[in-house]
Amino acid sequence: MAALSGSGKSVFVNEMAYRYRSAGSKVWIIDVGRSYKNLCELMDGEFIEFADERQNTLCLNPFSMVVDINNDMEMLLPLLAEMASPREPLNNFCYTALASAIKQVWEIKGKNCTVTDIYELLRSGKISDESEKESQLMHMAVALEPYTKYGVYASYFEGPATIEFTKDFIVLELEELKSKRDLQAVVMQIIMYRITQEMYLDRSRRKIVIIDEAWDLMGSGSSGHFIEAGYRRARKYGGAFGTITQSVDDYYKTEATKASINNADWLFLLRQKPENIDRLGKEGKLTIDEWMKRQLSSITTDHGHYSEIFVHSPMGSGVGRLLLDPFSMMLFSTRAEDFERIKNMRAENGMTTEQAIEAILDERK
Ligand SMILES: Nc1ncnc2c1ncn2[C@@H]1O[C@H](COP(=O)(O)OP(=O)(O)O)[C@@H](O)[C@H]1O
Ligand SMILES: [Mg+2]
Repeated sequence: MAALSGSGKSVFVNEMAYRYRSAGSKVWIIDVGRSYKNLCELMDGEFIEFADERQNTLCLNPFSMVVDINNDMEMLLPLLAEMASPREPLNNFCYTALASAIKQVWEIKGKNCTVTDIYELLRSGKISDESEKESQLMHMAVALEPYTKYGVYASYFEGPATIEFTKDFIVLELEELKSKRDLQAVVMQIIMYRITQEMYLDRSRRKIVIIDEAWDLMGSGSSGHFIEAGYRRARKYGGAFGTITQSVDDYYKTEATKASINNADWLFLLRQKPENIDRLGKEGKLTIDEWMKRQLSSITTDHGHYSEIFVHSPMGSGVGRLLLDPFSMMLFSTRAEDFERIKNMRAENGMTTEQAIEAILDERK
């Protein structure tokens, strides 16, 4: 899904997520900006909020998530490589050494391993007694330090992981990590892995993963590959994958994002900048004929009334209007005033989200 900011993407996705959940699906939403908090509360979901390291209570220790070390090396190795070298890929020697370090500490401590164990081993400069001291290993150790018990991010990685996904509606809110790029990329990778583990566990259960405003989250590291794999594989497991961004151009930034748009069956476009419609056609990013150009140019969002959505699907294309009832409008609203109103109403009167919205709507009558 792609459209300008404020055009109604998150409101539409609230409606969509609600429908998926009502039809029995398990829903995961990864968001930056709290657009799904009220819906999550109403659906009795799990709202997982990442906080600043000083207030953090969530633990994401990847070792404790391992089910089968041979399979899960697929997650652990790229993840630790990302921690050890966020800007560029590790060279062959380091990559292999890291793999061997992971195996060694795993054999000793299993699920009780933490990044600290890898760090201690690499810091010695040798991964076996016979080998020479190697400065490259010590450099990796230095880079891993923030993620160890000695580092600023210790609270996120020491001890057993605490994200469980026991509920059927799960929102992961990453707003607080926005200013910490490296940590954000690592966290995103771990979350994607945890979701993938569950996604491919049970084919009979329908599920959907939606990533809102995800581009800065998927930029680096291998989380892009999880998303790419998600688009390719999910449907075989009764799963669906959705991504939301402000511009179609974002889908052409990396190989992984290109794969995601090429593998997507459904494309939703809300309001676009008029000058972009022509350009996207010329650059081949959208297949646009005169009809589609007219359709796309005509779509608008009338705040508080409706949004218009161009839908491109295997069943055909066309424009639809999303007209919401007042309750849903208030529930899905991303406006700060509405959000505050609901929050205060709940706090002052000890109401549930549902009761608070009803009370606000009653006042307006
Ligand atoms: N279908 C709709 N009907 C009425 N108002 C809407 C609709 N969609 C969006 N809005 C209004 O526009 C605001 C911004 O929508 P939002 O979904 O947050 O935009 P985006 O995610 O594209 O930035 C909402 O808070 C709401 O006030
Ligand atoms: Mg939004």
